[in-house]
Amino acid sequence: MHKLLIFPLIILSLPTFSFDQKEAQTLASNLKKNLLSNVKEAMGKGGPTNAIGFCNTNAMALTDKESTKNYSLSRTSLKVRNSNNTPTIELKSYLNEFAKSSADQPMPDKVVTLKSGKRALLSPLYMQPACLVCHGEKIAAPVSKLLKELYPNDAATGYKAKEFRGFVVVSENE
Ligand code: HEC
Repeated sequence: MHKLLIFPLIILSLPTFSFDQKEAQTLASNLKKNLLSNVKEAMGKGGPTNAIGFCNTNAMALTDKESTKNYSLSRTSLKVRNSNNTPTIELKSYLNEFAKSSADQPMPDKVVTLKSGKRALLSPLYMQPACLVCHGEKIAAPVSKLLKELYPNDAATGYKAKEFRGFVVVSENE
């Protein structure tokens, strides 16, 4: 009887994984850098329509690649292009908190505990001039045509430079 009681206590007292904000921040900024440099490279090689092809086939994979044993990465926004990035109701309320911030006065990364009990780092993304080719107010006709074909429900256009675009989310796995 006693042994049965002690067993769960031992499990509870084993050292557990603890959320490391610095590590999560490094993962988020690596993903931001990788996406940007890959988009730039694809644009250099074949212009924006080539880069859309790159984002279409590689952005999700790149995002997953940054994930580790302990953390999963994703991207989300109030206005999504790729429906895989649609925010949960919970993330939507955090996105709303950041919505009015801009690159001039960026909000710092925020660590939250989600309703699931998992902690997550929310790292804001702001629009840079290079992003506007595919997310801005005036999108060149061939680019816009290709975007419509690939993403008939695309909501991620009409942005201005420096506007808040969304989050890179780094959440703990267990
Ligand atoms: C060449 C076109 C192109 C450029 C330039 C571009 N994007 Fe995108 N973006 C896309 C496409 C296509 C998707 C949808 C595919 C995906 O990434 O999942 C997307 C998706 C996203 C998403 C995921 C949320 C969603 O709407 O699905 C974010 C966040 C994002 N882009 C931010 C940026 C930022 C910030 C920049 C500038 C640093 C940028 N993009 C530059 C084409 C582009």
